[in-house]
Amino acid sequence: MCEIVEYIYEVIGENARDYPLPTAAILGLSFLGLFKFTLSVLSYTKLLLDLFVLPATNFKRYGAKTGAWAVVTGASDGIGKEFSIQLAKKGLNVVLVSRTESKLVALAEEISSKYKVETKYLAFDASTDKPENYQALSKLVNSLDSVTVLINNVGQSHSIPVPFLETTVEELQNIITVNDTATLKITQAVAPKIVASVKAAKNISKGLIMTMGSFSGLTPTPLLATYSGSKAFLQAWNNALASELAPQNVEVQIVLSYLVTSAMSKIRRTSALIPNPKQFVHSALRNAGTRRAGAQERYATLTPYWSHALMHWWINATVGVFSKLVIGINYNMHVDIRKRALRKAERLAKQQ
Ligand SMILES: NC(=O)c1ccc[n+]([C@@H]2O[C@H](COP(=O)([O-])OP(=O)(O)OC[C@H]3O[C@@H](n4cnc5c(N)ncnc54)[C@H](OP(=O)(O)O)[C@@H]3O)[C@@H](O)[C@H]2O)c1
Ligand SMILES: *[C@@H]1O[C@H](CO)[C@@H](O)[C@H](O)[C@H]1NC(C)=O
Ligand SMILES: *[C@@H]1O[C@H](CO)[C@@H](O)[C@H](O)[C@H]1NC(C)=O
Ligand SMILES: *[C@@H]1O[C@H](CO)[C@@H](O)[C@H](O)[C@H]1NC(C)=O
Repeated sequence: MCEIVEYIYEVIGENARDYPLPTAAILGLSFLGLFKFTLSVLSYTKLLLDLFVLPATNFKRYGAKTGAWAVVTGASDGIGKEFSIQLAKKGLNVVLVSRTESKLVALAEEISSKYKVETKYLAFDASTDKPENYQALSKLVNSLDSVTVLINNVGQSHSIPVPFLETTVEELQNIITVNDTATLKITQAVAPKIVASVKAAKNISKGLIMTMGSFSGLTPTPLLATYSGSKAFLQAWNNALASELAPQNVEVQIVLSYLVTSAMSKIRRTSALIPNPKQFVHSALRNAGTRRAGAQERYATLTPYWSHALMHWWINATVGVFSKLVIGINYNMHVDIRKRALRKAERLAKQQ
């Protein structure tokens, strides 16, 4: 220890001996800076490895190609439809759950003929929150041999950005019912079967529960206040569940996304920041399990799409996800989206 101190004095100059306290403070802060810098470099390196270098997660761990099943909610459109297709492609049978039966019938048929896996479907409106919904789901999954994957994707947002004080009680109730209550109850219906399946089958090592979160839950989003809160709720719930289920070999992840082209986002054109569902889901499944990609600072959280991942990492590493600056930018963006949506509605009304 003494030798190190002597060496430091040698490097920084003998004058420092006359000022031991300021010298110690400066050295201490420098080491702290170096330490934090090293952590950031390591975290950024891990992000790049997850995104571009490490091989994709092998779904054999979840029993792919051995007859295991995945359950996908909100399966008939957008991101959920892509999850269903890409999981089938990996060799999992799929249970499709969403609202519109006709869409589910067509998708089930398409998936089983194209990818040579079995499919089943269940139609219910998650906003009704009826006990029968969850009972039917539980009965269906318990009739299957082994179920290893659950994708909680069903979700509803505000039809257009709206100030919280003008949000109808019906809309805010629906959002919380669909995004939070239904997600929790669906998980209670399916997860026990996943735990039992992983325990029983020798050739399955892990189960997987992925829940779709959003950047709206990562950083508060004005004019989507209820949605934003509903997603933040899922973040805390997900992380607690991840810790509870880890000893039972079930991997639990919340998947964060900025915009994706879909009916919900009402965006049709892709860009560097806005992938289509196919690109988005590919990135999510590539990192399924325990990787975090852009969400390095968060346990059990995955921001998988490359541009979203870089955005998440840099916001966190600079101003922080709860900063006034980021929320201000978000506010202006949604005021703008609201204005355009109102103008469009006016135009449509005039045409009629
Ligand atoms: N798109 C984005 O920019 C974005 C960004 C961040 C997070 N997310 C999240 O990603 C998830 C999927 O979004 P998406 O853009 O793919 O949505 P989407 O294209 O609108 O698809 C929604 C799916 O959920 C089903 N669904 C909707 N309400 C339902 C209800 N009450 N009961 C049962 N099923 C219902 C729909 O079924 P029907 O076809 O029968 O209506 C459809 O299959 C959501 O959780 C969303 O919060 C999306
Ligand atoms: C995996 O185990 C199940 C029974 O637990 C069995 O039906 C299946 O054939 C096995 N698959 C492989 C590839 O060993
Ligand atoms: C509900 O959840 C879905 C995905 O889980 C999300 O896309 C949607 O924005 C959420 N809506 C609200 C209002 O939280
Ligand atoms: C994320 O932000 C927190 C809080 O500011 C910070 O402690 C942490 O080092 C950041 N993580 C990364 C990966 O930059």
